[in-house]
Amino acid sequence: MDTFLSLLRHRRSIRQYTSEPVSAEDIKALCQAALMSPAGKRLNPWEFIVVTDHEKLNAMSQCRTYGSQMLEQAPLGIVICADSHKSDTWMFDSAITAENIMLCAADLSLGSCWVQVYGREHEDPTGHFTTAEAWVRHLLNIPDNISVVCVISIGHPNEQRKDYDIDKLPYDKIHQEHW
Ligand SMILES: Cc1cc2nc3c(=O)[nH]c(=O)nc-3n(C[C@H](O)[C@H](O)[C@H](O)COP(=O)(O)O)c2cc1C
Repeated sequence: MDTFLSLLRHRRSIRQYTSEPVSAEDIKALCQAALMSPAGKRLNPWEFIVVTDHEKLNAMSQCRTYGSQMLEQAPLGIVICADSHKSDTWMFDSAITAENIMLCAADLSLGSCWVQVYGREHEDPTGHFTTAEAWVRHLLNIPDNISVVCVISIGHPNEQRKDYDIDKLPYDKIHQEHW
């Protein structure tokens, strides 16, 4: 990507992936992008779980009825967790790491999509896991004091999305000097 704005234009949510694995080198770069995220008071409340195991990704795809199915095909999922007791900006901090990962993925010609976990329900006929968070927590052995924010699904794109059109951005959302 030649400029940062063209990277931003190009990054779209990609939900279909080829079966090609994400290389170890690319996984390292994605983790580095996450770890270079700014965080309130530099408390870095986040933790990440890199998942490449197909069975686990498949099980994670079932954390919600809708909106998480792309994890089934994805060769990689990065679970973003945070210690909410460590910092009152844990959710903002986590969101920034998610964006850093997704932008890094776009720069590496990978596709990615945010799968929301925090605050989402899990439909379980047995009633054992009522939230998506509880489902992912159980699956990946995440301690109770750690919140699960989202999973970023990542892979080589198997769909094409249009870049953002710079002339069609909702410029009316930008206010000058006052509302
Ligand atoms: C906080 C947040 C939660 C999201 N949750 C989901 C999700 O659970 N499943 C999904 O398919 N996409 C999810 N998305 C992706 C959005 O649908 C997507 O970013 C939006 O439609 C804009 O499209 P774009 O990413 O291609 O620019 C989420 C995005 C954000 C920022």
